[in-house]
Amino acid sequence: MDDDEIAMISKEGCIFYDFDGNRHEKESMHLDWEAAMTSRGGYPHFMLKEIHEQPDVVAHTLLGRVASNSVDLSHELAWTPEQISGWKKIHFVACGTSHYATMVAARIMEEVGNFEIRTEVASEYRYRNIPIGPDTLAVFVSQSGETADTLHAARLAKAKGAKCLVVTNVRGSTIHREVEEGLITPAGPEIGVAATKTFMAQITVLTLLGLYLSKLKNDLCPETEQRIVAALMDIPAKLASILDREKEIEAVARNFADARGFFFIGRGLAYPPALEGALKLKEISYLHAEAYPAGEMKHGPIALLDKDLPVVALVPKNDLWEKTISNIEESMARNSPIIAVATEGDSDIGHYSKNVIFTPETEPELFPFIAVLPLQLFAYYIARQRGCDIDMPRNLAKSVTVE
Ligand code: M6R
Repeated sequence: MDDDEIAMISKEGCIFYDFDGNRHEKESMHLDWEAAMTSRGGYPHFMLKEIHEQPDVVAHTLLGRVASNSVDLSHELAWTPEQISGWKKIHFVACGTSHYATMVAARIMEEVGNFEIRTEVASEYRYRNIPIGPDTLAVFVSQSGETADTLHAARLAKAKGAKCLVVTNVRGSTIHREVEEGLITPAGPEIGVAATKTFMAQITVLTLLGLYLSKLKNDLCPETEQRIVAALMDIPAKLASILDREKEIEAVARNFADARGFFFIGRGLAYPPALEGALKLKEISYLHAEAYPAGEMKHGPIALLDKDLPVVALVPKNDLWEKTISNIEESMARNSPIIAVATEGDSDIGHYSKNVIFTPETEPELFPFIAVLPLQLFAYYIARQRGCDIDMPRNLAKSVTVE
């Protein structure tokens, strides 16, 4: 429905009116969703079902967008290299988990191309005086397509002449109808209030978008494109292998269900998944969880650490491994228990933690894809152990349609 409409639903169909009683003729739209998608399908919670759907969601999101290790979005975005050269700035605007997905995208885009990017929370973007104009590509990311702040931010950017693009899971949602161009995340309906599979679909689409833009700008080295696309194609199998180790993650979570809160740390590409892991915990377990870039710890938050505040350290085997390990050592010196999310085969990590969640190796840029799933499970099992209402946490709505 559009704004200011009334619908009368009967066995014969649905008739739309405006508030003066005038009938509105509308075109019907086919949504590729089936009734079975809205059942729990044998899982105790929608959230767990949706976590398990993620390998398929990534595969489905890639379908038709990659071939022969190359990305092609030309059938969805009719953009020319000339047009793109006019966009000097990229703004990513979103709320909550969708915002963290844009932070992942920005970091990946910095690695693969040459972009001037800013990521903004929609409720800030719309009220600050950020320069926006025809030289701006503004990308709005919203699972529901109905989030009030994101929608208003999109209206503002449009009014200021920016080129606007929406990434949404709901075809025909308000933002999708209002913003000229859109990319759909085909994750299917997400019922659990805590976003899981839609985050995974968002980071998949946004990674493809980054590669595609970079390619049209002639900035993308073909080897990088092939390497990343090949690694993306492997992500579903890697996610499935993490799900095979669900019991191990559950066991780690059980050890910490009575903690008073959690501190998450990560550097570079490990920072956005740390934020998302902390948000999942807050939302469904009602425990305080805070995520920091690991290097920021010394600038204040380290004062919080003691034996009752576990640190979840995202420490992939990459160039920043030693730096993050030194932050782990600082935490250990304050008696904080360490839960490490580390790369399979990292034989040194055992010196720093007895609670290690191993993730499969992938290309360094794609670490967020495989880091976030174990953190979703970690939050889920802590919330379950604490008897929380996982699918409908207190004080939260699936879609925030008011300011
Ligand atoms: O529908 P949207 O993606 O626009 O929603 C944004 C946030 O409200 C949403 O991601 C929220 O943070 C979730 N509850 C996270 O799990």
